[in-house]
Amino acid sequence: MKELLAKIKKEALEQIEDANADLEELRVRYLGKKGELTALLRGMGALSPEERPKMGQLVNEARESIEAALSEKAAALREKMLERKLASEKLDVTLPGAALPEGHLHPLTQVQRELEDIFIGMGFSIAEGPEVELDYYNFQALNIPENHPARDTQDTFYISDKVLLRSQTSPVQVRTMEKQRPPIRVISPGRVYRSDALDATHSPLFHQLEGLVVDKGITMGDLKGTLETFAKRVFGPSTRIRFRPHHFPFTEPSVEVDVSCFVCGGCGCRLCKNEGWIEILGAGMVHPFVLSNCDIDPEVYSGFAFGLGLERIAMTKYGIDDIRLFYENDERFLEQF
Ligand code: PHE
Repeated sequence: MKELLAKIKKEALEQIEDANADLEELRVRYLGKKGELTALLRGMGALSPEERPKMGQLVNEARESIEAALSEKAAALREKMLERKLASEKLDVTLPGAALPEGHLHPLTQVQRELEDIFIGMGFSIAEGPEVELDYYNFQALNIPENHPARDTQDTFYISDKVLLRSQTSPVQVRTMEKQRPPIRVISPGRVYRSDALDATHSPLFHQLEGLVVDKGITMGDLKGTLETFAKRVFGPSTRIRFRPHHFPFTEPSVEVDVSCFVCGGCGCRLCKNEGWIEILGAGMVHPFVLSNCDIDPEVYSGFAFGLGLERIAMTKYGIDDIRLFYENDERFLEQF
């Protein structure tokens, strides 16, 4: 019986040593209720009373060493598995990361910020107004009564008879003058809307930047100096500007302003369509009616205003020939700025 026990023990320890998994199967086989050691214990009835305890002790010893071997092996297997897992999931924290493409501001935002900086540098502050605007501010107060032909060129989207999407940033002039007494020196960038079909030069949504200065003794000379400084900053120090007579209902006199072509310097090229000049904005002296509408006495105060399209400035500056590129979010376009 001792030999049998020794054999079982040896076999068990060897198998445990060689096991790669399935320790449970071995445990059941040797130590389980129907296992080999249990069977041996049952057979002890055949032994003499003196031998029984000795044999019992031997069996217990065998059981203990098998149990110990099992738990040792289990720990070893766990360790091995962990090692394998660590090896397969190895992470080199010193490797450079996968580079994410860096985004940047949209070219229109860049141009807007550049213009804001230029005007802030000249003492302007930024005013804001709503995109959903009252007819009164977008038209009436700007000296464009109902049925005025100027409404045709600024047809927009109506929410009701009296509420619309602003077709220009000029209503901010009125809102500012209602809230603030002169001296006033503000710019107001923002979205504007017109009921135009989308093509290379038109978009139902685009961006403008309005300027307004009101104080005692403001003249057209101030307007000219301000716009010339602005043009030189945006298009280069040798840029000249030119005023052409024009008409806006809310300025008198009114002008359209051109800059000398910064590609050819004024000799004529493709960009300026051989004109030597590029139209960039509308401006004029604030109409006395508009000042009166805002309770500012035109006999005491005068002012100038201007309005420019941000898309037009960006297109001119960067030689972009299709306004739709700004809104399509095509990275091949955007990444160039
Ligand atoms: N609001 C005018 C437009 O959209 C531009 C403008 C602004 C003209 C201010 C004169 C003064 O065409």
